Amino acid sequence: MTRKIHILDTTLRDGEQSPGASMNTEEKLIVAQQLLRLHVDAIEAGFPISSPGDFRSVQDIGRLAGDDVVVVALTRAVDADIDCAAEALATAKRPRIHTGLGVSPQHMREKLGMTEDEVVERAAHCVRYARKYVDDVEFYAEDAGRADQAFLERVIQAAVDAGATVVNIPDTTGYQMPEDFGRRIKGLADHVRGIEDVIISVHTHNDLGMATALALAGVRNGARQVECTINGLGERAGNTALEEVAMAIKMHGDELDAHTDIETRELTRASRLVSRITGMTVQANKAIVGANAFAHSSGIHQDGVLKARDTYEIIDPADVGAGASQIVLSARSGHAALRHRLCELGYTFADTEFDDIYRRFLEVADQKKEVYDEDLESIVQERQRDVTAIYTLDALQVSCGDPLIPTATATITDEDGVRHVVCATGTGPVDAAYKAVDMVVSAHGDLAEYVVKAITRGIDAIGEVTVRIVGEDGHTYTGRGADTDVIVSSAKAYVNAINRMIQSQRADKAA
Ligand code: KIV
Ligand code: ZN
Repeated sequence: MTRKIHILDTTLRDGEQSPGASMNTEEKLIVAQQLLRLHVDAIEAGFPISSPGDFRSVQDIGRLAGDDVVVVALTRAVDADIDCAAEALATAKRPRIHTGLGVSPQHMREKLGMTEDEVVERAAHCVRYARKYVDDVEFYAEDAGRADQAFLERVIQAAVDAGATVVNIPDTTGYQMPEDFGRRIKGLADHVRGIEDVIISVHTHNDLGMATALALAGVRNGARQVECTINGLGERAGNTALEEVAMAIKMHGDELDAHTDIETRELTRASRLVSRITGMTVQANKAIVGANAFAHSSGIHQDGVLKARDTYEIIDPADVGAGASQIVLSARSGHAALRHRLCELGYTFADTEFDDIYRRFLEVADQKKEVYDEDLESIVQERQRDVTAIYTLDALQVSCGDPLIPTATATITDEDGVRHVVCATGTGPVDAAYKAVDMVVSAHGDLAEYVVKAITRGIDAIGEVTVRIVGEDGHTYTGRGADTDVIVSSAKAYVNAINRMIQSQRADKAA
């Protein structure tokens, strides 16, 4: 049997640090449910002291996780952070505190203003302090990729002696070459006393496009945990992509003496879910989960694949959940066909909920010849987003053209069930629609970004609009809306952003 490599997913912590990728607590729970389906070993759920939202996420994910997965909370090497993380983790059956500090000359000198001796002492202190709360403590040596090796071994020795159960060796800036990083891990495995009873973890970033190569070099040299994110989301150029590590280990397990417990057939769904929720598009040629990962364009390739799939494909798309749909859904499809396909995609609904989905499906099907899996996912996720809506856009009618004055008439229902019918003019159809929405809603946000993209195939594709608005509190809120009519998508996205702004402001007030 090969070595088990633990997968720590940090989409909800490091991934969420991607500019513009922030998620609210409900969205984090939806992602966490998918991480459970993927069978990750640990979920880094947040940095509790950083915000009330992160604190709540760690609590909620702790409740959700049960015995199945370790729930991890990040801290700096500061007692107050650790106290706060321990409090947030009280709901978790398998809690882990992840604490640490910078160990490179740059971090010690510029950021911390500490000497080597002080760093070693603080490393030991924070591990001991965290161990008072939980049995499972992970120590991170931030920017280990640029640290002096002898000093790194000294810090890790102190963390192990103080009771760390996992030691995390991050290449925080994605600086190293894979061979050098591998040697670093081997040096730790060879020189730190007692490390055989501790899990060595690797946490690498993609600044030079080598995050996965770095992580695998770590695994080859003794690491038993890899920290990664769905779609490689994360600070700057991102973190190691979970889907890449899982599939590389699956394909080269014997050579690496390694396996993971990841349910790889859930990878595509996880990727689409995280992309929709964060609004971060996955590039079409992204390994494993990109839209073109299993698409063959040239005649020679098509001919080869038709003769034998493995001439140009090393992965069976079904192994990552990217298998083609067998049922063509259209307006002629009944309940049974829709329910069957949704079930294949992993969605089951109670009858009343399903009736709503079916109604929406027929609306989309009436506008399109075929309804693809992406359309269905969009319908389902649009519904999940709207469950907690404060304002709902019931109808929108826009007239525009040259020389017409763009005019929008919107019907909006508020949380008390009151229907408002309003009419506004604007510089264009979207502006008119947004002005109409502004006439009803109780909070205001300035539009900072507006992105429209086709999320399904064909000229009749569903268009998804993502908007970012800046509230009067200075925070940015993201909203999304999907429809075959992009003006309607735009209005839905704007209403969605306003709903989220109001929900978040209310939650912060209540906290
Ligand atoms: O990249 C990094 O060093 C980190 C640590 C906080 C683990 O994300
Ligand atoms: Zn990181």
